[in-house]
Amino acid sequence: MSEAKSHRPTAASSLSARLLVLTVFFVMLAEFLIYTPSIARYRKVYLEEMIATAHLAILALEATPDGMVSEELERELLFHAGAYGIMLWQSDRKMLVLSEAMPPEVDVTFDLRQGTFLMWIGDAFRALVQDENRVLRVIGISPKDPMAAIEVVFDETPMREAMYDYSGRILNLSIVISLFTAGLVYVSLQWLLVRPMRRITASMVNFRADPEDERRVIVPSTRADEIGIAQRELADMQKDLRAALRQKTRLATLGAAVAKINHDLRNSLSTAVLVSDRLADIDDPEVKAVTPRLYDAMDRAVNLCSQILNYVQDPALRLRPTYFHLHELVAEVGAVMRDPEGLGLGGGAPDRLEWHNAVAFELDVDADRQQLFRVLSNLGQNARQAGAGKVTVSARKEGDSVLIDVADDGPGISSKAREGLFKPFAGSERAGGTGLGLVIARDIMRAHGGDISLAGTGDTGTTFRLQLPVRGRAR
Ligand SMILES: Nc1ncnc2c1ncn2[C@@H]1O[C@H](COP(=O)(O)OP(=O)(O)OP(=O)(O)O)[C@@H](O)[C@H]1O
Ligand SMILES: [Mg+2]
Repeated sequence: MSEAKSHRPTAASSLSARLLVLTVFFVMLAEFLIYTPSIARYRKVYLEEMIATAHLAILALEATPDGMVSEELERELLFHAGAYGIMLWQSDRKMLVLSEAMPPEVDVTFDLRQGTFLMWIGDAFRALVQDENRVLRVIGISPKDPMAAIEVVFDETPMREAMYDYSGRILNLSIVISLFTAGLVYVSLQWLLVRPMRRITASMVNFRADPEDERRVIVPSTRADEIGIAQRELADMQKDLRAALRQKTRLATLGAAVAKINHDLRNSLSTAVLVSDRLADIDDPEVKAVTPRLYDAMDRAVNLCSQILNYVQDPALRLRPTYFHLHELVAEVGAVMRDPEGLGLGGGAPDRLEWHNAVAFELDVDADRQQLFRVLSNLGQNARQAGAGKVTVSARKEGDSVLIDVADDGPGISSKAREGLFKPFAGSERAGGTGLGLVIARDIMRAHGGDISLAGTGDTGTTFRLQLPVRGRAR
């Protein structure tokens, strides 16, 4: 149970919480991207409205014959326009001026008739980030009369406050939109993805605790999306795994039984060998004729039992790697191979086997010497049993590997034997063969981090290639 808990992410690290935060972030980012041009636009409209109001205020001067009004009316007009001074030029007429007696000094001038959009954005942000009350002079064409240019002088603070108000409204709206969107994303993810994912992980954890319990296999839903596929694949995988486990248990039991039978069989055979020794003493020509064949048959049977026992009892190889001259090892194998009585070979082996050692003297390898001996002698025996007269062993370094080729001049491997090659008990074509020699050789090579492969076979012979990784000191 505690294990099941550890497979549950904390609220903050869960997929939906992360997506919630990301959604809020992305919506806010999008809102900011929208806000930038809109605040610039807002400021521009504000200034244009100032121009329109100023134009309206200055129209009062046109009604008078000399373009002058009383000082009191002038102040009133300026107050309503929110400006210190207004000026109007008309191409065909005179210039009109409405101004306070002592207008303040102008800090910045903006000309609405020119400027790019980027400049407007820059001006808007500059207005927002400073808190000094600048006096602005804005020049623009009146929206009511394209022939009239207006210049108006006023304080920046009311405009900045209006811009702050506007920004505040946008910010509030953004927060509401992002929380709303993120909430929706969270709920739909929770429903569509996270809950079914949790079911899958819980099933995995549950299954691992007891794979043989049939009830722990996930019941897949009928969803057509990726989650549905994952559930169905998981259900299939769990079923296959359970079947494989059951098979493995059965095989293990079988293996143990075979080992026991073999053991007893070998003991009985040994007793038979001992007893049959007495046969040699009987002075009967017929007995003398059959005794060697009897010995031979029993030898082969004991050999077979021993090999099967070794294979069944020793599934995991323990290597004792050393650093040695490969040439010497190949020579030792050759010495045993040349001896026709060597290694208790079965019948059918030719009396002489030419063993050609083509390995360079200076080539060293890092491997378990005894196990590599086993591999080479298994290959040698196979060649000999197949009827080869000559075996050539050569080796070379290639990249990070030492490649050892064992080539014979035998009749080649039949296609039937090739199919079962490297499969336990399946590859043997030979009477008395167990079909384990190459399996053992492959196990040994793989335990070294290398491999064995059939490099070629045909009428003129067979070549097996051993690959050994070069480790540390090998040259
Ligand atoms: N060099 C070879 N030339 C021809 N056939 C070969 C050669 N090496 C292997 N074979 C074929 O492959 C089969 C499998 O070889 P393997 O060494 O795995 O088993 P085996 O020799 O039959 O039995 P074991 O080695 O366990 O006594 C052999 O029976 C033989 O038919
Ligand atoms: Mg063999």
